[in-house]
Amino acid sequence: MLRTHTCGEIKKEDIGKTVVVCGWVRRFREIGGINFIDLRDRYGRVQIVVEDKNLIKEIGLEYVIKVKGIVRTRPEKDINPNHPTGEIEILASEIEILNTSKPLPFLPEDDININEETRLKYRFIDLRRQKMQRNLIIRHETAQIVRNFLSENGFLEIETPFLTKSTPEGARDFIIPSRLNPGKFYALPQSPQLYKQILMVSGFDKYFQIVRCFRDEDLRADRQPEFTQVDIEMSFVDVNDVLNITEELIKRIFLKTLDYELEKPFLRISYRDAILKYGSDKPDLRSSITIVDITDKIFAHNLLEEIKQKGGKILALPINIDISRKEMDQLRNIVKDFMYFKKFSNEISGQLSKYVVNWEELTDGTYIVIGGYNLEPYKKLGILRNEIIKKYKLFEKKFSALWVVDFPIFEYNEEEKRIEPSHHIFTSIYEEDMKHLEELEKAIIEQKDYLHILDKIRAKQYDLVINGNEVGSGSIRIHNRHLQERLMRIIGLSDEDINRKFGFFLNILEYGAPPHGGIALGFDRIVAILTGNESIRDVIAFPKTAMGQALFEEAPSKVDTNLLREHEETFKIVLEILSNYKTIS
Ligand code: AMO
Repeated sequence: MLRTHTCGEIKKEDIGKTVVVCGWVRRFREIGGINFIDLRDRYGRVQIVVEDKNLIKEIGLEYVIKVKGIVRTRPEKDINPNHPTGEIEILASEIEILNTSKPLPFLPEDDININEETRLKYRFIDLRRQKMQRNLIIRHETAQIVRNFLSENGFLEIETPFLTKSTPEGARDFIIPSRLNPGKFYALPQSPQLYKQILMVSGFDKYFQIVRCFRDEDLRADRQPEFTQVDIEMSFVDVNDVLNITEELIKRIFLKTLDYELEKPFLRISYRDAILKYGSDKPDLRSSITIVDITDKIFAHNLLEEIKQKGGKILALPINIDISRKEMDQLRNIVKDFMYFKKFSNEISGQLSKYVVNWEELTDGTYIVIGGYNLEPYKKLGILRNEIIKKYKLFEKKFSALWVVDFPIFEYNEEEKRIEPSHHIFTSIYEEDMKHLEELEKAIIEQKDYLHILDKIRAKQYDLVINGNEVGSGSIRIHNRHLQERLMRIIGLSDEDINRKFGFFLNILEYGAPPHGGIALGFDRIVAILTGNESIRDVIAFPKTAMGQALFEEAPSKVDTNLLREHEETFKIVLEILSNYKTIS
C-alpha cells in the first residue's frame, strides 16, 4: 500500500506516530505563513499542517497527494470535537503529488447547488461527495444483509440469463438482434419471473438473486430503465409464508443499517380498504389521515346535490392544519376539481361553509372535498393526501411498512378496452373466488357485461409499501397448465399466441411443477428510502436521465458501420415485416 493509514481513521491514540496518508486536496489555505491542507478519502478527512514552505510547490484543489508526517495534537483553539479527526493534525515531512486535477466544474461538497444534468455528466466527481459515498455504502451494506439473511434461511443465489425470451411485466422490452440468428431478437429480462418459477420446478425450493431488470418505460424519480430487484421464490408456500420471511428481511435491513425497529407484523390491508381509507394502493401511513364520507353532511349545493341524487358520494380529507387559499390554488395544479371548507374553534368558513350541516361535530381542520362516483373521488383525494402529508410534513413516524393484499386479479384497461392482469399473468387466485372466474369466462363467451365480476376475483398477490412507495410485489403462482391457459385466454390471448409466447413454459408446468410463490423487492427504492433520497438516481452509481441517457459516456450512441453490417440481414427482415404490416393496417 502507498499509505499506512486512511484519512478518516487517525485518532488521538496515534499521536506521535509517523504515518503516510493519500487522498484528494479538499481545501488548502495559508494562515500566518503556515499552510493547511484538508485531505479527503473515502474514510474521512484529516488536517495536514505544512510548516516547511519547500514541501509545497504547486498544489490545487482535488490534486491527489501522498503525505508523510507525524500525528500531533491540534492547538486547543483548533480542536473540533464534532469531527472524527478533529483533535489531531499531521505535521507533514514529505509531500508527493500523485496526480494533478484540472479545475473542476463543481466541487464535490454536499451543500453544492448544482443541477442534476451537470452532476450526471460529471458523475465521477459527483460520486466523490460524502453524501453519494454514504448512499452507495448503505447500498452495499443492504446487499450484504440481504445475502446473509437469505443464505442463513436456506435460499440459494442462482443467476439467470440476460439474453432471454421476452417475459411480460407490463412494460416494453429492450430487444437485441441476434447476429447468429438473423431476424431474431433476444429480449433483456423485465424480471427473472419465468426462470425463478422454472427453478422451483427443478426442485431448488428456495431461490434468490440480486438482479438487474430492464424495462423500456417512461422514467420517473422512482423508475430507471435498468434497476435492481431482490428476487425471491419459494416452493410449497402460501401467502403468509412469503410475507413473513420478507418482513423478517426488511426488519433486519432497517435495524442493521439505521438501527430502526419497524413494527411487526406489518399492517395488512386489502386493496379495496386501502383505496377507501387512503385513496391509494400504496398509502403512506406515516400519517393517519383518512378519507371520510360526508355525503350526509352536505346539502343544497347544486353540483354536489346532483352527485348525491345520482348515487355518488361526497368525500373529504380532513387536514388538521389551516391551509391558505394560495396554497389551495397550488394544490389545484395537482387535482383540479376539489372544494373545501374549514372548521376551527367553533367557526366554519370557506367555499362550502354554507352547505355543511352539523359541522359542530367535526374535528378542527381544513376539509378538502370531492364528490363523485365509484372509486374515482377516493383516488383523487388519495393523490392530494399524498402531496399534502409530504408538503406539510404531517408525519407521525419516520417509517411505515405495510402490505396491500387481495388485489383483484384483473383490471380493465379503458383505453385499450381489454382485460389485463393486475400483477402478472402467472398469479393465482383465492380458491373461494374460483366460482367468479367461471362466471367471468361465461360472461366473456356470451358477450355479456363482465366489469362487475372483475373486482370479485381476488389474486394471491401482495405489495409491500414503505412510506407510500411500492417497494415490492409478488404472488403465489399458478402451477397448473390448464388454469394458466384459462387466465391467458381471459386476457385475450389466442391459443396461437399462448403457444408461441409461453408454450415452453406451459410444457414445463406439466412435469411436476410444485406449488410456489415469491416476491421481488425494488432494491433501489429500498436504498433510497433508507438514505432519505427522493430519487433512486441518487443511490445508483451510474443512472440514466429521464430520456434514458447516460450522460458522460454518452449512451445510447451510434455504433460502427461494421457492427451494423453484421445485422444487415436482420434489418432487411425487419423492414419487410414492417412494410407488410403497413399495408395490412
Ligand atoms: P414488479 O413488476 O411489481 O414485479 O416489480 C417488483 C418491484 O420492482 C420495483 N420496480 C422498479 N424499480 C425501479 N425502476 C423500475 N422501472 C421498476 N419497476 C419495478 C418496484 C416493484 O415493486 N416478477 C415480479 C415479481 C414477482 O411476482 O415475484 C415483478 O417484477 O419496487
